[in-house]
Amino acid sequence: MQRILITGAAGGMATLLRPRLARAGRVLRLLDIADVPGGGDGAEIVRASITDMAAMQAACAGVDAIVHLGGLSTEHEWAPILDVNIHGTYVTLEAARRAGVKRVILASSNHAIGYVGTQDGEVRADAFPRPDTNYGVSKVAMEALGSMYADRYGLEVVAIRIGSCFEQPKDARMLRTWLSPDDGARLIEACVAAPAPGFRVVWGASNNTRHWVSLDEARALGYAPQDDSERFAAQLQAEQGEPDPASPLMRYVGGAWCSEGWNTAVKEQAKEQTK
Ligand SMILES: NC(=O)c1ccc[n+]([C@@H]2O[C@H](COP(=O)([O-])OP(=O)(O)OC[C@H]3O[C@@H](n4cnc5c(N)ncnc54)[C@H](O)[C@@H]3O)[C@@H](O)[C@H]2O)c1
Repeated sequence: MQRILITGAAGGMATLLRPRLARAGRVLRLLDIADVPGGGDGAEIVRASITDMAAMQAACAGVDAIVHLGGLSTEHEWAPILDVNIHGTYVTLEAARRAGVKRVILASSNHAIGYVGTQDGEVRADAFPRPDTNYGVSKVAMEALGSMYADRYGLEVVAIRIGSCFEQPKDARMLRTWLSPDDGARLIEACVAAPAPGFRVVWGASNNTRHWVSLDEARALGYAPQDDSERFAAQLQAEQGEPDPASPLMRYVGGAWCSEGWNTAVKEQAKEQTK
């Protein structure tokens, strides 16, 4: 029996992936600080924080692979990003090491390289980090931790730079970055099944006609995407029009997160000054 621990199991992605990853011969162990609804699929539910080493070690017992989705999935001030995303990823990897879990799949993000421009052709999965936010920095740290745990301790770690994993793309940028839930599950399956991946960084996107990112690295792991955001393009264009290619939304991989509204340090300072 294979057991997969999914952290952040109450979240949007896990909710989309859970039914797609459930199968005979596999137990899903679902961990979150929030309530995870039972699903009648025999899943094991664990209420714990990814920052709690003892709880994470217990949650890792008997686990073959971890899909680490837990954490803050948008921009926040530095302290919570440090605690939940950076320390929480350290605890997850260290608990995996202590419990003898062989493989960990990390939910990195396009925001790890958000300031990379979109005009210079397909962005490879080994593009050097250019994070756009505190959140983006936490994903760079996630990848660095994964690399260190692979090289030093022999864990097999695949970090997926996820684009936009939702039921449907929501705007022109997401036509470029969309990862359909079905392709998301296909990619996770490939990451779980790949023989001896060592440490890899791959892009998590569907086979989108208007793509920005390379799927070569994910395909090398065995990923065979089957969806294309293009079927939503006409409707989105009719509803929203064509965005200015010079706007941050379209100019950078990180989209609007590269715009002035996302100056978290400046906002944090202003908040301190009004205390
Ligand atoms: N959805 C996307 O398009 C996308 C894109 C890039 C990266 N990602 C990453 O994928 C992961 C999942 O994304 P999502 O959209 O499902 O996010 P989400 O916010 O919907 O879910 C995150 C889950 O993590 C849980 N969580 C938060 N703090 C925790 C803690 N201390 N201990 C345990 N659980 C905790 C939350 O309760 C929540 O259920 C995140 O790491 C996110 O950064 C998602």
